[in-house]
Amino acid sequence: TPALRVTEWADVTGWWPTPGPATEKYTRGVVGVATGSATYPGAAVLSVAGALAGPTGMVRYAGSARVEVLRQHPSVIATDRVADAGRVQAWVCGSGLGTGDEAAGELRAVLAAPVPAVLDADALTLLVDGSLAHLLRRRDAPIVVTPHDREFARLCGETPGTDRVAAALRLAAWMNAVVLLKGDRTVIGTPDGRAYVNQTGTPALATGGTGDVLAGLLGSLLAAGLNPERAAAAAAYLHGLAGREAAQGGPVTAPDVATALRPVLARVGWID
Ligand code: APR
Ligand code: MG
Repeated sequence: TPALRVTEWADVTGWWPTPGPATEKYTRGVVGVATGSATYPGAAVLSVAGALAGPTGMVRYAGSARVEVLRQHPSVIATDRVADAGRVQAWVCGSGLGTGDEAAGELRAVLAAPVPAVLDADALTLLVDGSLAHLLRRRDAPIVVTPHDREFARLCGETPGTDRVAAALRLAAWMNAVVLLKGDRTVIGTPDGRAYVNQTGTPALATGGTGDVLAGLLGSLLAAGLNPERAAAAAAYLHGLAGREAAQGGPVTAPDVATALRPVLARVGWID
């Protein structure tokens, strides 16, 4: 049986890479977000919201939803293309990106960057359909993929089944990436056989766009310097708590989850 642990409060508080909350925006890292499209600008707005809610001080957005992103998040630096975005410490790619040639080009640019990357949603479809999967094997910097069950099935050729830990570990080994398999109990598997289960989730999160917020948050944790498996486990944990927090105020929408992340991060001591 693999080494399996349930993520706990004490884990997450202990995983912060610096002794206390950092205060200087560049030392906290810059996260790049390559999501959204003219068709799905909301996915860009939500993933950027997740990234901004995280402990990093700066977000750069690259994509076709610049206007919408800047309207909602004026502090973001926005460009049309990943190649023009400048230096970032981690990339988030895929939510609402589309699956055409332009989207594939942006994914390639993300994969070419020598920094950790979160691949979600359409980036996962592109990996399968566009046969870009071979690029993962050649990549030195870590990758975290964040499939829900249908995305997992597309990547793997089979549904996760009942043993979700085994499923996540199988895909992780095959892709040489950390796998965050989303569900009511999100499971994280690493290529070398470690696994984490998250128990903070709530059905309140079962609403469109909360996965985009999670991807953005995860990117922020990677940019802040957490290692990929801890970043994934912590992101799932904090996202679950934020869902619970948001649910206190009534029915939850994805922006509510992003808003609730700030007080949750303050409670674990990751922001002031
Ligand atoms: N309990 C706990 N957590 C849950 C539950 C639940 N019952 N249901 C969903 N979640 C969490 C997942 O763990 C994940 O973090 O909510 C998030 C949902 O993320 P996604 O599945 O990526 O969904 P999202 O992309 O936000 O929105 C769904 O994607 O597949 C498309 O067409 C679909 O429009 C829909 C959109
Ligand atoms: Mg999703």
